[in-house]
Amino acid sequence: MTNTNASHAGPGPTQGHPKQRLFFALWPDEVVREQLYAVGEPVSWARPAKRVPMEKLHLTLTFLGYVDEAQRECAARVAGGIKESGFTLTIDQAGHWSRSKILWAGTDAMPPGLLAIVAQLRNGLAACGVKSEDRDYRCHVTLGRNVRRKPVLTAIEAIRWLVDQFVLVESNTLPQGAQYRIIGAWDLV
Ligand code: 2AM
Repeated sequence: MTNTNASHAGPGPTQGHPKQRLFFALWPDEVVREQLYAVGEPVSWARPAKRVPMEKLHLTLTFLGYVDEAQRECAARVAGGIKESGFTLTIDQAGHWSRSKILWAGTDAMPPGLLAIVAQLRNGLAACGVKSEDRDYRCHVTLGRNVRRKPVLTAIEAIRWLVDQFVLVESNTLPQGAQYRIIGAWDLV
């Protein structure tokens, strides 16, 4: 595992819960993480808006929700079976979803490799008895939550993200916010 500030440890049950809340993601390296964070710089971030701290920025591939140990092991086998090449993801848009009140950075130019990984994860997870999303995949990094009004954002400078790995992350919701822990990583060939 390289290039991540998220804590990294072996699997274990989420505190106080027999299941773990998991998602597959791309985790940016330090340079990309700083560039992504900078996209939110012009925003005022007045309360109740909450900016995602730099070390927590990530791009979700698919969200599993709460899973048991057998499902987690099955998900890891699915991930291990993915034989896709690495690719460059160019993040060239910032946007705002008014319903979910999310400010995001993303792109419409999704590399085929990214879509292939998402599709294989979704299909494989279904066979593990894990229901992941079936709506169209929206490639985005959440920069802020509870952003009620669309901020004025000028065009962003394209961020080139060389993707050579994807990760499985455990999310723990604590009073101070979500804590992420990377519990698995798979290289792209
Ligand atoms: P978001 O960034 O668009 O909110 C960890 O919570 C990651 O999983 C986040 O990136 C979040 O996406 C995604 N996530 C959380 N809950 C989800 C849900 N119910 N369905 C789909 N994705 C979810």
